[in-house]
Amino acid sequence: MQGDIQRVLITRRQIARRVRQLADQIAQQYRHRPEGLVIVSILSGAIIFLADLIRHLPMRMKIGLVAVSNYPGPTTAPRGPRLVRQLQPEIRGRDVLVVDDILDTGGTLRLVLAELQKLQPASLRVCVLLRKPSKAPADITADFVGFDIEDVFVVGYGLDYDDHYRNWPDIAVLRPELYAAARNPRAAATDRA
Ligand code: IMP
Ligand code: MG
Repeated sequence: MQGDIQRVLITRRQIARRVRQLADQIAQQYRHRPEGLVIVSILSGAIIFLADLIRHLPMRMKIGLVAVSNYPGPTTAPRGPRLVRQLQPEIRGRDVLVVDDILDTGGTLRLVLAELQKLQPASLRVCVLLRKPSKAPADITADFVGFDIEDVFVVGYGLDYDDHYRNWPDIAVLRPELYAAARNPRAAATDRA
């Protein structure tokens, strides 16, 4: 796996430090809400971020999970998100924080936020570990952001390429020849455009 990595963009130490800072900001935001939070996290990319973040949040919380499908098969070009599964606690009247790995084009969060809004939460905020500001749309804002990154496809710390590399502890860029080029030339070309 190590041989597949071209360069590390954010080290595990930088991630750990930033996750603690994000947790402090979140705890501060909700400090007067004794009933705590409902965290809704998006599978599967956010699982490692979620696990680390919540262990730095000393407050009451319930955790819900939703699954959104973006990248069918070996491609880095998204096809438009679809909500495929939902497992979540009561949302109505609760402070809800959506936790995701990355805000890229915003399609995933737009879909999830619209679904959650229908359930009438008291508040609805977003925390993402990564954001690609060059692509982030004006209508989707993240309230808590770990790192703004350049527009490159990254893996590790939960993020995958064709469901691989989620377990890599740093956030990294793969060697370009590993991306879809071989099996899916058109998708790879679109992504680089
Ligand atoms: P969006 O809908 O375009 O904002 O993309 C969000 C989702 O696509 C994220 O939750 C990720 O699962 C996935 N994604 C976007 N960019 C990357 C990347 O660079 N590496 C891995 N997954 C990504
Ligand atoms: Mg995701």
